[in-house]
Amino acid sequence: MRAAIIGAGPSGFYTTGMLLSAGFAVDLYDALPTPFGLVRAGVAPDHPNIKAVTRVFTKTAKHASFRFFGGVEFGKDITREELLERYHAVVYALGTSDDNRLGIPGEDLPGSHAATKFVAWYNGHPHHNDHEYDLSVSRAAVIGNGNVAIDVARMLVLPPAELRATDTADHAIDVLEASKLEEIVLLGRRGPVQAAFTNPELRELGELTRADVIVDPADLALDPASEAMLAEADGTVTRNVEILRGYAARPPRGHPQRVVLKFLRSPIALLGDGKVEAVRLAINRIEASADGRLQAIPTGEEEEIACGLVIRSIGYRGVEIPGVPFDARRGLIRNLGGRVVDDTDTPLTGEYAVGWIKRGPSGVIGTNKKDAADTVARLLEDRDEGRLGAPELETTEDWVLEKAPDAVSWAGWANIDEHETGLGAPLGRPRVKLVHTAELHDVARSR
Ligand SMILES: Cc1cc2nc3c(=O)[nH]c(=O)nc-3n(C[C@H](O)[C@H](O)[C@H](O)COP(=O)(O)OP(=O)(O)OC[C@H]3O[C@@H](n4cnc5c(N)ncnc54)[C@H](O)[C@@H]3O)c2cc1C
Ligand SMILES: NC(=O)c1ccc[n+]([C@@H]2O[C@H](COP(=O)([O-])OP(=O)(O)OC[C@H]3O[C@@H](n4cnc5c(N)ncnc54)[C@H](OP(=O)(O)O)[C@@H]3O)[C@@H](O)[C@H]2O)c1
Repeated sequence: MRAAIIGAGPSGFYTTGMLLSAGFAVDLYDALPTPFGLVRAGVAPDHPNIKAVTRVFTKTAKHASFRFFGGVEFGKDITREELLERYHAVVYALGTSDDNRLGIPGEDLPGSHAATKFVAWYNGHPHHNDHEYDLSVSRAAVIGNGNVAIDVARMLVLPPAELRATDTADHAIDVLEASKLEEIVLLGRRGPVQAAFTNPELRELGELTRADVIVDPADLALDPASEAMLAEADGTVTRNVEILRGYAARPPRGHPQRVVLKFLRSPIALLGDGKVEAVRLAINRIEASADGRLQAIPTGEEEEIACGLVIRSIGYRGVEIPGVPFDARRGLIRNLGGRVVDDTDTPLTGEYAVGWIKRGPSGVIGTNKKDAADTVARLLEDRDEGRLGAPELETTEDWVLEKAPDAVSWAGWANIDEHETGLGAPLGRPRVKLVHTAELHDVARSR
């Protein structure tokens, strides 16, 4: 049996491994010439250990029944219909490459950027290498209280020596090194108890070598609903609050830069004449909604913070592919437990979803393993009960090359990998990333 998996990020790779073990031949497609999704283009460059998971994926790729087709975009180079004619099962592992919108005046002023794009830029994603970020300003506001917001804040204050030891894209190193930023303000719309940070990431802010972390003790005063939530919270939330209290209590160490965490503040407008000059904030209080979720409710008080740069880090969002059922409200492929369904919730034959495009943009790399296991279990159940597709055509490499003449094989990726790590070695860096699509293809073809 043959399966096509679209997207070579963690969810695509975990699914690949499980389907190979179940006896499928697997073709893994990615729009980029390079594999690994957000492990290459999302995970912060100063967290190289996290990227070690690619060794597991590389082992999976050695299987005799595995083929990689990089640089092949689903929905453009190849269509859903073409895949369904050729595979018993098609698994969408597309990730969620777009960003949520604040929906406030001034959101698109120059100087206001989505974290999705900033992250892709510093990580050398070839579709995002031409962005421009003006870091000649003194204060940046990062909106959102998730781990991506922390990554962004940390990258903005990483000292040059630490930055140069990473695989940050060279174009980004040059801009980040020349930064004049003195202060990064992280803005959460809810309180410290509701922040989505995890402990190691929050703790790392306190270990920055060039920036003090500043928390106003008044910002940590909890309302009764948050007190009650904290009393029943898991260890992550409890420790987050402890870490924040530690920051509020400790005197600044005299570093030249500051990362300031502020809570209970929602941006209601970005202000400026032709570019961002300030963010206007509603000051919130916490109130329980009917379903028990603690919400941010504006108190009517407002404040403005002057800043020349805004990074909006309020979550990723899936992109609709024509023909594939899409839940536009949630920004996901319509699915029930991984089976793609139509608008009457009827499963479509041989179509599955996995990872962030299945369940939404949250969870760490490992979360996608369990998620892949769930989707694969349903796929195998459908196989055992004769509910998979009945393809009539084989997928030959010639067919793929007809559709995408520059398609990159696993051997092509190995060339890129060797080239990049070879450039990095004498500099003490894990790799120097190639950031232009044409160059990636040239190197892929080099041997
Ligand atoms: C900025 C950031 C930092 C993170 N840091 C960490 C961390 O330190 N540790 C951790 O454990 N987790 C981290 N995560 C979470 C982790 O990256 C995700 O859980 C994981 O990558 C989701 O996997 P995925 O396969 O669903 O999606 P992705 O990793 O996004 O992979 C999707 C793949 O699909 C491809 N694709 C998309 N559209 C098409 C198309 N039309 N045709 C063909 N291919 C397509 C993309 O090119 C991509 O390769 C981070 C996430 C972000 C956003
Ligand atoms: N080192 C790591 O392990 C690492 C690094 C990066 C990312 N990740 C993971 O990747 C996933 C995605 O991370 P993420 O940071 O993008 O998402 P996230 O954890 O969901 O955080 C999104 C943040 O945006 C806020 N937000 C949403 N809409 C908003 C609005 N309109 N106005 C103001 N704030 C708004 C949310 O607040 P509310 O809570 O109020 O909605 C939340 O604080 C997470 O699971 C994360 O843990 C892990």
